[in-house]
Amino acid sequence: MTKPNFEEVYQKIVALVKINPDDLLLGICELLKQEVYHYDWVGFYILDQEKNELVLGPFVGKPTQHTHIAVGKGICGQVAASGQTMVVQDVTQVENYISCGLEVQSEIVVPVLKNGKFVAELDIDSHSPAPFTDDDNVFLDKVCNLLVDYF
Ligand code: SME
Repeated sequence: MTKPNFEEVYQKIVALVKINPDDLLLGICELLKQEVYHYDWVGFYILDQEKNELVLGPFVGKPTQHTHIAVGKGICGQVAASGQTMVVQDVTQVENYISCGLEVQSEIVVPVLKNGKFVAELDIDSHSPAPFTDDDNVFLDKVCNLLVDYF
């Protein structure tokens, strides 16, 4: 497993945000998956406040049937409820988990908070066991902070 250069990837994302293409969120998903070895599925879930559920937005990786997730359900729904990042290094060890495929071993979900309120999240599945470190948290937090105005 190659150690990612998060600072370099972050600068690429900053550059993409400056260009601001129509499909910025998809572009960010693509960049993240391409640049970080242990990111195998990368997507955004966006809060539908009225229905109190998450709706799948742009993503890259295997299509998932979980296009709508109720707040509180699965890792994604728990992050929507708490507004706090969740790191699951071994998905077989957690109960409130929605599987998107047997190849997925671990997951990190980072919220996008607008004025302190949850609006969306970045969800990353990995086929590697326990790949996430604090560097992932810090990096993905910075990425989500850049995107507040896009939701
Ligand atoms: N595993 C997630 C569901 C979404 S997929 O990973 C794309 C969860 O437990 O909420």
